[in-house]
Amino acid sequence: MTTVLKPAAEVLYAQELAALQDWDAAHAHPKPPRWQRSPQAVLRFILGGEANGTIIRRKYFGADREVQVAIATLTTDRALLLYGPPGTGKSLLAELLAAGISGNSRLLVQGTAGTSEEKLLYEWDYAHRLSKGTDLEAVVRTPIYRAMEEGLIARIEELTRIPADVQDALITILSEKMMPLPELNTVVLAARGFNLIATANDKDKGVNDLSKALSRRFNTVRLELPSDRETEIQIVQHRVQEMAEENQVPLPPNTAEEIRRVVRVFRELRAGKAGTEKLRKPSATLSPAEAISVLNQAVNSAAYFEGGALSAAQIADGLEGVVVREAEDREIFRDYVDRVLKTRPKDRALEKALRAIL
Ligand SMILES: Nc1ncnc2c1ncn2[C@@H]1O[C@H](COP(=O)(O)OP(=O)(O)O)[C@@H](O)[C@H]1O
Ligand SMILES: [Mg+2]
Repeated sequence: MTTVLKPAAEVLYAQELAALQDWDAAHAHPKPPRWQRSPQAVLRFILGGEANGTIIRRKYFGADREVQVAIATLTTDRALLLYGPPGTGKSLLAELLAAGISGNSRLLVQGTAGTSEEKLLYEWDYAHRLSKGTDLEAVVRTPIYRAMEEGLIARIEELTRIPADVQDALITILSEKMMPLPELNTVVLAARGFNLIATANDKDKGVNDLSKALSRRFNTVRLELPSDRETEIQIVQHRVQEMAEENQVPLPPNTAEEIRRVVRVFRELRAGKAGTEKLRKPSATLSPAEAISVLNQAVNSAAYFEGGALSAAQIADGLEGVVVREAEDREIFRDYVDRVLKTRPKDRALEKALRAIL
């Protein structure tokens, strides 16, 4: 067990990644320049399977075709944009792709409203410039710079949070595969293997548009909220179990049942309908990530405070936290309790617990 809070995917799955490399070697799978693994090994790393007798766990659920398109894009000279609602696993998929392809998922720039061109391209070590002059050693290389030099995958999280004019600094990199360093009258040429994976939320306050010029350089892959219930249950189940292992807490015996219940509530609220009953939709996205956080919190409370099974009160607390974001969500949720949960004898305990807090 590692002691790091969140180890990189290439560390966490080092054994699987090594087995997949052996699998490539044994079958002489073709590989793009500088890729550590073949496209099919990367696909298997993400969707699961087996490699030379080693079990490869599935890490991303649903959207198999999208994952394949994403990998195919990265074999070309077009960059990849993973786009969709928050909590659909865009960051997770970007990390897995970088780990599978480059064995390094940490060449990462986090996009914010304050991200400057220097954070995307390069900065200066001013102490060095003053004492030794402006030479290459005075250049502080960003993750993107290093990925270009070494022929690796760089990542940009939340690309559209970056102001549009700063985003445009990427155009030269993506179209010319180089970064000018005018102060040194030189350029950095991207090594083969270099590419970029960006993620962006489609439903977010304070996002900027992607400029037309830049969006042409990206192939966009949309990741949606899971369309079928079983996939959504699997996503939540997988991650809740993983987190319980990481936190070294036991999984209460009724966890699977409660996951199904929470996912059902989420899907009905999201769809604005339960059976023939039409409902108002709350403002929250209610993504798998939020369902995971409701369950994870309940699992931990059960382990540390109550012992034994997940209680309706814990689940209700978590649900209220993610569903009620704006004042009217409370009324919408209450209405759901009255019209839907109340009619289901099996949801009796949750109904009562929600009534007590809504
Ligand atoms: N399709 C999916 N497969 C596996 N895990 C998922 C999926 N969708 C969401 N998750 C889970 O939700 C969590 C949050 O996802 P994240 O990658 O941060 O979402 P995004 O970047 O789209 O906001 C992840 O850690 C992962 O456990
Ligand atoms: Mg993200």
